[in-house]
Amino acid sequence: MQRQGKHRRAVVTGGAGFVGSHLCERLLDAGTEVVCVDNLATGSTANIERLADTGAFTFIEADTTHPLNVPGPVDAVFHLASAASPRDYLRLPVETLEAGSLGTRNALDLTVEKGARLVLASTSEVYGDPLEHPQRETYWGNVNPVGPRSVYDEAKRYAEALATAFHRAYGTDVGIARIFNSYGPRMRGDDGRAIPTFVRQALDGDPITVSGDGLQTRSLCYVEDTVEGLLALAAADITGPVNIGSPHELSMLRLAELVRGLAGSDSEITFIGRPVDDPRFRRPDTRLAAEALGWRPRVSMEEGLRRTIDWFAARRTEEAAAAAAAEAARAAAAQAASAPVGGAS
Ligand SMILES: NC(=O)c1ccc[n+]([C@@H]2O[C@H](COP(=O)([O-])OP(=O)(O)OC[C@H]3O[C@@H](n4cnc5c(N)ncnc54)[C@H](O)[C@@H]3O)[C@@H](O)[C@H]2O)c1
Repeated sequence: MQRQGKHRRAVVTGGAGFVGSHLCERLLDAGTEVVCVDNLATGSTANIERLADTGAFTFIEADTTHPLNVPGPVDAVFHLASAASPRDYLRLPVETLEAGSLGTRNALDLTVEKGARLVLASTSEVYGDPLEHPQRETYWGNVNPVGPRSVYDEAKRYAEALATAFHRAYGTDVGIARIFNSYGPRMRGDDGRAIPTFVRQALDGDPITVSGDGLQTRSLCYVEDTVEGLLALAAADITGPVNIGSPHELSMLRLAELVRGLAGSDSEITFIGRPVDDPRFRRPDTRLAAEALGWRPRVSMEEGLRRTIDWFAARRTEEAAAAAAAEAARAAAAQAASAPVGGAS
């Protein structure tokens, strides 16, 4: 069932990150006032700096593991604050567990205080290395509770359990989104995830490093579609969990070839070791999202990759220009310092 009316004021935790900054932008475009709460652990103010000009955007630098103080009315809380890339959460293991546990508790308390709806950004990682394919929301998952990835997987499983308990015990209005791999502009080139890594390597002419035999699969969803899925869940009247992802599954080797082709690169493709507990297959069953939310991804893999590659290429050009300007300024300053000082004779 759809709710009436749009959200007037939303909190986006993790709004300075990759998905969160696109969500903030999209909410502002729809006329929703946005309060972004982020501690910048893995996000950046560069992702949101132009949003301040809208006059409807507030940034609060805060850690969600502390109680959240957001003055004024709020009718939706999008809870995205958490390290998300394996490189980040392996570097921040305890912080990641606390973001999923304490952070989700504080986001729920804020939701109750404001009488809002919470959309929880959960993940396909709750399915672990799945024994069921494709993954339906009814599948309980296959997660190693003490493996290195458990800091993320178990944090999200706990966050889902806590949100569901709030709903059952207090009637809190929650919607759980199980997001499958999402990609697009504003991913960090060094975050270790496959697409930014492959794109950076292809643009630099470096070898494209595929892990394992490259036959492991993922289903990759362009960020614009992911954001539409979160908004559809916010506007719906269901608790979920609901898979938000693309049903288009491809192997990592195929992905590397696609990126190389679209980037016009002649990088060779090489193979490196596979991370511990890396899932072999990933593909969402998206029937519930289609039926309950009327949502399905729209942007094709080729189109999404093209936009992502263009964004990374433009950033490289900007960074090169900024580095050249800084070098020229340094050289000019050094020359001025070494020039003989002219004095009155
Ligand atoms: N990108 C994906 O493919 C994907 C897939 C599944 C789920 N998700 C979920 O979506 C959300 C966003 O992911 P992303 O890819 O944009 O990651 P990201 O790292 O780019 O963004 C996360 C943001 O959360 C902030 N943050 C982290 N811990 C915080 C804390 N304790 N307090 C306040 N802010 C904090 C970071 O600074 C960052 O801005 C995460 O919850 C992630 O688990 C993402």
